[in-house]
Amino acid sequence: MCGIVGYLGPAKAAPVLLSELRCLEYRGYDSAGVAIIQDGELSVLKAAGKLNNLEKLITDNKPTATVGIGHTRWATHGVPNDQNAHPHLDSSKTIAVVHNGIIENYEELKEELIKEGCAFESDTDTEVIAHLISKEYEKEKDMLKAIFKTVERLRGAYALGVVSQKHPDKIYAINQHYSLSVGLGNNESFLASDSMAVRQYTNKVVRLEQSEIAEITVEGVRLFAFDGKEVKRRPMSLDSNPYVIDKGGYKHFLLKEIHEQPLVLRQTLAKYLIHPTKPVSFIPHITPNGNAPTNNEEENALSKSYGVHLSDMEVKGIDRIQVVACGTAYHASLVGKLIIEQLCNIPVAVDIASETRGRRLMVNESTLTIAVSQSGETADTLSALEEAKKLGSFTLGITNRPDSHLAQITPNLIVTECGIEVSVAATKTYLAQLTSFYLLGIYLAEKRGAISAEQAKKLKSDLNAIPTLLEQILARENEIRMASLKYADAHDVVFIGRGLNYPTALEGALKLKELSYIHASGYAAGELKHGPIAVLDSKVPVVTVIVPGSVYEKTLSNAQEARARNAQMIAVACEGDEQAAKTFDTVLSIPQVDEFFSPLLTVVPMQLMSYFIADYLGKDVDQPRNLAKSVTVE
Ligand code: AGP
Repeated sequence: MCGIVGYLGPAKAAPVLLSELRCLEYRGYDSAGVAIIQDGELSVLKAAGKLNNLEKLITDNKPTATVGIGHTRWATHGVPNDQNAHPHLDSSKTIAVVHNGIIENYEELKEELIKEGCAFESDTDTEVIAHLISKEYEKEKDMLKAIFKTVERLRGAYALGVVSQKHPDKIYAINQHYSLSVGLGNNESFLASDSMAVRQYTNKVVRLEQSEIAEITVEGVRLFAFDGKEVKRRPMSLDSNPYVIDKGGYKHFLLKEIHEQPLVLRQTLAKYLIHPTKPVSFIPHITPNGNAPTNNEEENALSKSYGVHLSDMEVKGIDRIQVVACGTAYHASLVGKLIIEQLCNIPVAVDIASETRGRRLMVNESTLTIAVSQSGETADTLSALEEAKKLGSFTLGITNRPDSHLAQITPNLIVTECGIEVSVAATKTYLAQLTSFYLLGIYLAEKRGAISAEQAKKLKSDLNAIPTLLEQILARENEIRMASLKYADAHDVVFIGRGLNYPTALEGALKLKELSYIHASGYAAGELKHGPIAVLDSKVPVVTVIVPGSVYEKTLSNAQEARARNAQMIAVACEGDEQAAKTFDTVLSIPQVDEFFSPLLTVVPMQLMSYFIADYLGKDVDQPRNLAKSVTVE
């Protein structure tokens, strides 16, 4: 949540900061700002709303400064307006701070600072930091010392960028439980919450670890632990190809990303599934930067945390799996539980990561805790994994970002091969997380001898067939569009499913509400009669996910119960299903598929339905209101 950037070098800072911020807009987009030091004076440009508003300010003011910091905000304290937009200044207007995270004790600090005569201009928790650094600087006359003293007073998880008018040749960056990267160019340096934002300028980065402060100059960076000790860390090389972020001819990133799903699946499968007769392998045969592993320590730095490094003994000793995740990743994990339980006969518990706070996690030395997060930066998920680690559990991450915080805190990592997902609503990363669970289930089952070689081969062949089936659904996009728009005026939509497709119903509801702002709820189909059925009438569409298999008949009965209440009946069902054709007003059909793999297909018509309704209603499809792609506060 919130993106921090910085630049120091020979070029004009504002355009560089803007282009870095563009890459971080996914972290929040309710306001943005920059602080630059021009002709010895600190000045701030900031504006509520999307980055375009800040861009206009910069275009009008034409700043020529060559040093500055910037910020894109997702509001935590204080409404999204100009005053609460970052950067925030101290009383002397010589120190500027940009901040990601929450200062938990800001109220007591603010009270103290007000008593000491500081005037506050915003409702944010951030402003106390600028005042504190300023107070300490008055005493110490040294920015680093002032920052060391300040962090001693702050409670919470945060990342900061700081500039001082008195030290225009330096930027300071502070990391406490978040991610910050310093990019090292030729006589210029960059700062960003996500290395992706500096990759357009340099592929040489130094990452700040927990409780570290960076002093950045054009020549490079010096790192210090919070206790003042200098830390030496060599830069690492990023992927040699900068990420290309464009819509590829699609109207929105979301639609492009939905269409990328067959490719994404092929890429993830190609990486871990060499051949149906060979065991699934999570030791990557290519490095994250796309090159074969080399002896170069720098180049392989990212690869170190890559893959699953559990021994056969350890895999056999696991007697329980705990999964933690949020939002869409949580829904993928609910499917993952059923896959692993079915294939491996190991009990799997799935928790919404934020719900693990304040209670005892039931994990120990024979538990494997899996954290699932496309961004690898979700604070709730990271905290839950850290807690599991403390309790002695083995840990494993499933993420789309091998350069994320999650990758740093677990020795075992499955990386989904999605490329960057720009749209705030997750689509291709959901499918890739599901795929990772299928692969992980087969991997664990093979290692534990829970399935025969024949069964394993069949599962892998079936999995390999999925991308082609996905293409068949996407080819019907127009049909799905026409069918979906009939329901665009709904105020409430109910999604139901059973078994492996209960999570699909939850995900369908989440997609519709976050994209179109139509209220939608997902239920286990059998639960409908235990209360939710009260909301049904002829104005409420009910979307039923129904595929042939163990729960087909019972799901159909639950749909009939909705039909008897005059609900508008929509199904996601397999082609050729005559019963579905008779029961439902609208059928969004998918190719015939084994029930076990059906979640990989059933979600796609729902993604498209949500997209088409949201676009028809004129919603901001790629950046829905109030949301952020990376949720870095608890
Ligand atoms: C889904 O469309 C949302 N973007 C959201 O629920 C998301 O899945 C959740 O915030 C978790 O994010 P993560 O996968 O990056 O941890």
